[in-house]
Amino acid sequence: MKFLIINGPNINMLGIREPDIYGKEDYAALLRLCTETCESIGVEAELFQSNHEGAIVDIIQDSYGKIDGIVINPAAYTHTSIAILDALKAVAIPAVEVHISDVSQREAFRQLSYAGMACIKTFMGLGLEGYRQAILYLKEYVEK
Ligand code: DQA
Repeated sequence: MKFLIINGPNINMLGIREPDIYGKEDYAALLRLCTETCESIGVEAELFQSNHEGAIVDIIQDSYGKIDGIVINPAAYTHTSIAILDALKAVAIPAVEVHISDVSQREAFRQLSYAGMACIKTFMGLGLEGYRQAILYLKEYVEK
């Protein structure tokens, strides 16, 4: 089983970026957490981060026929990108949405998630732990 873990713009700035909202752990710590979680359940992990919407669409398209599940934090593109929503729908691979912060308690412009419309579940407000829960949830879902 192979999962693709996608992070959108500015997630590579974790640890530096607004630590009161996103925490003090950096992107390397996030990669370690995702890699170790996947290893612990026998899932192969492909990790991808981009600040570019089209690059995220491309990797979702490329995953068709190769990937069993997608964990995605589209970051700011969550609230704007119909292209990412359409790509997730096009490949129809089970996907779980993650947000480090609790977007439901933040600004009005963060209340809409396009990508979330193509996801089976969303974890938000759990910090990096949300990725661990998303991976475990997806493994159970794909196995059933
Ligand atoms: C985020 C929430 C988004 O609103 C924001 O643009 C991000 C990160 C999160 O993980 O909490 O970049 O997706």
